[in-house]
Amino acid sequence: MRLLIATSNPGKFRELKEGLAPLGWTVLSLLDYPFKLPPEEGATFEDNAILKAAFAARHSGLPTLADDSGLEVKALGGEPGVYSARYGNRNSDLERNVYLLERMRGLPPGERQARFVAVLALAYPDGYLELYRGETEGEILEAPRGDWGFGYDPLFLVPEAGKTFAEMTLEEKARYSHRGKALKALIEAHQQGLVRREAPMQE
Ligand code: IMP
Repeated sequence: MRLLIATSNPGKFRELKEGLAPLGWTVLSLLDYPFKLPPEEGATFEDNAILKAAFAARHSGLPTLADDSGLEVKALGGEPGVYSARYGNRNSDLERNVYLLERMRGLPPGERQARFVAVLALAYPDGYLELYRGETEGEILEAPRGDWGFGYDPLFLVPEAGKTFAEMTLEEKARYSHRGKALKALIEAHQQGLVRREAPMQE
């Protein structure tokens, strides 16, 4: 199958492309289909993933995978959530990390729980779609650790691994991460022929 991955985030694209390798699909990017994705106005990760995937599938004529993901910090009532990519109107990963640390200043180690959520929507040009969700529990450190990854990776400690996402190889991150778990569900559904397709949404 030829599949379009509809994301303009290079970190996400890399993880999705690597993660899909077991299915042997031919993967295309928005560099092959240079249209602009619609603004993410949904209230949930599901809404935004569907919005992006359905729009891109309609415009490309190809089955399209989109990811909507983000960080939810318990002590901040779930912030930044669906606003993770534009938290505090900051323009770079570094500035958003600094802003998050400011918002959490003074919180002791026991009150720094957070989780990452990823929702993958695989939309088909006929309007049908598949949805997969993955979550990873962790803690926000008081200072960054590690050089790899993207976004909030250097601040997000996975206690069972003893490492931040930014200290993991791509393979290790895939094992522990929200996106890796959602991808695993997608791959298993396709390998086992157990795909659950949702009906097209009404416009
Ligand atoms: P969106 O899905 O395009 O709205 O953006 C999600 C945002 O959440 C990204 O820009 C990152 O800031 C953050 N995010 C999502 N997944 C990850 C991850 O695996 N590591 C670090 N940050 C992430």
